[in-house]
Amino acid sequence: MKLVAAFALFSDLYVAVRVAFWPTVIDIYRNPASIFSISRTFMTHVWSVFAAPTDENGRLVKRSLLLPHATGTVLDIGAGFGHTIQYLDCSKVNRYVALEPNLQMHSGIRQRAERVGFRESDGSLVILSCGAEDTLDILKALDGPYPVDTITSVLTLCSIPSPERVIASLVRDILKPGGQILFYEHVLSPRADVAWWQRFWTPLWSFFLDGCRLDCPTHLHIGEMKYVDDDGKEFGMWDEGESWGKPGESEENLWWHQAGRFVKHVR
Ligand SMILES: C[S@@+](CC[C@H](N)C(=O)[O-])C[C@H]1O[C@@H](n2cnc3c(N)ncnc32)[C@H](O)[C@@H]1O
Repeated sequence: MKLVAAFALFSDLYVAVRVAFWPTVIDIYRNPASIFSISRTFMTHVWSVFAAPTDENGRLVKRSLLLPHATGTVLDIGAGFGHTIQYLDCSKVNRYVALEPNLQMHSGIRQRAERVGFRESDGSLVILSCGAEDTLDILKALDGPYPVDTITSVLTLCSIPSPERVIASLVRDILKPGGQILFYEHVLSPRADVAWWQRFWTPLWSFFLDGCRLDCPTHLHIGEMKYVDDDGKEFGMWDEGESWGKPGESEENLWWHQAGRFVKHVR
């Protein structure tokens, strides 16, 4: 791996510190308790600047992934400022549920959702401030068993502790049989040299960026997911599914992306 690619993280970290350092200091000055969630505060300021260019960068993949496939009730885990909303076809999506534990991002979600007609007043927009790991709270907030037709995750599973367990629980308990998960994530590279650098940088990167890890094999966790039937037999979770890369992306990118669509088994 070229050293310039291995050390690319520094230029991103430098820009992140430049845009978010002083706003974070000001937040802590105004609300000293925010020192206890300093990484989250820092990430809020980073993402308020980076969300739009990052969205632009993944636009083609996200459009072809989300626009034709997202239907019914969509649960968007880690909705951020709501950039995924623009890829939803409102004639096929009747409810957008944004799961976003960072309360400072909720107004952005609300604005983007209302722009395309999702409103809290008529129930077509639901904003939940729990984390993806809080399956019971999500079930309580939505109605009935298996309330979700589509789970979307855009650049979020890297920030969730124990993502393999969390996504399995969301798929098992919340996603309808025949429902789908659509994801676009940066993941662990299949190249050993790139993966080495991803593991090396992860402690530093996740310290600044609210737990975001470079070394999550999210696409493999999802693709290999199993369920166990009443007789204790193990089956693949999916009726169909595949994951694919971002066209034109360098193999040496520390943020190596995979998109995927998997359809839950109908028992
Ligand atoms: C890199 S941002 C991506 C946001 C958005 N999906 C986008 O594409 O702009 C990751 C998001 O995951 C959220 N997040 C962090 N931990 C989470 C958790 N445990 N459950 C759900 N979301 C979480 C963060 O607050 C942040 O908004």
